[in-house]
Amino acid sequence: MTTATKALAMTDEHFAKLSKIIYERSGIHFQENKKYLLESRLGRRVQELEMDDYEQYIAFITIGPYRDDEFQEMFNRITINETSFFRNDPQLKVFETLALPKILEARSNEKRLRIWSAACSTGEEPFSLAMILHRTLGIRLADWRIEILGTDISDKALKVAHDGVYASYAVRSTSKLMLDRYFTEKTGRFELDPEIRSMVSFETLNLKDRLGARRHGKWDVIFCRNVLIYFDEKMKQQVVQTFHEQMADDAWLFIGHSESIRDLNVALEPVPAPEGFCHRKIGAPSLASTNKPLSLGG
Ligand SMILES: C[S@@+](CC[C@H](N)C(=O)[O-])C[C@H]1O[C@@H](n2cnc3c(N)ncnc32)[C@H](O)[C@@H]1O
Repeated sequence: MTTATKALAMTDEHFAKLSKIIYERSGIHFQENKKYLLESRLGRRVQELEMDDYEQYIAFITIGPYRDDEFQEMFNRITINETSFFRNDPQLKVFETLALPKILEARSNEKRLRIWSAACSTGEEPFSLAMILHRTLGIRLADWRIEILGTDISDKALKVAHDGVYASYAVRSTSKLMLDRYFTEKTGRFELDPEIRSMVSFETLNLKDRLGARRHGKWDVIFCRNVLIYFDEKMKQQVVQTFHEQMADDAWLFIGHSESIRDLNVALEPVPAPEGFCHRKIGAPSLASTNKPLSLGG
């Protein structure tokens, strides 16, 4: 019989100090009712480091020589990395049937398309987008320069993305057709097709780091789903403003279905879609502008 080690108790004072440090560094807002979460995840870390209490840990991450490495370790432990392939499929349908045809048409001369999956966790979201593009473009994919970048604050999550091998839980919302086409099952693990794997690159990026985001230039499509819920209004405003700056004039933004940017002061507007929703810049070219048949390659 195994007995679980009891998490090191966290005082309110230590919780206040740690949540302030985390907020300042990442924008992640831990409300008081989430104290148990920090306690369970960081308590174990404090014990591993053979420290007596959180005071020592706070000194370690703020003034210690390994503070930057420990910040990374801390984010690996405190972030919630829940995701799956084809998560919220209706919204991906909006991408596939509304945004993608328009943006492919608009880029049909230069044949270059840039997609950013911000806070992509273990990579299922950008890989799902890659599969959709692969299926849509077929052999014409070779004519296009497609850039899909997945970023996250957690390098542990990105390591899983790099490896491209997933447990069955990750493919729980994937149709049999897509599973057969893009994965190889080996002893209960699902290995992603190397071509899809090669369509996506990954990089550690903290959304608090505006300069880091600017370095990448303008995007045609940005996905940032299920992370704004962890931020307060100030951080949300800053992050979504950065997205606005990094979007091409006719670009598309997809946020999570339970997230809202309605109250922010950003020049973005929702695009009505039968299922799901997305946003474009206020003043973006009209969607009804052309009706000519799509010519994507050749
Ligand atoms: C719930 S997952 C969402 C994954 C994916 N976008 C989806 O919807 O399935 C939230 C991710 O946000 C990341 N995250 C939290 N704060 C962040 C920050 N300040 N900068 C970048 N990523 C962050 C976490 O590491 C985590 O992987």
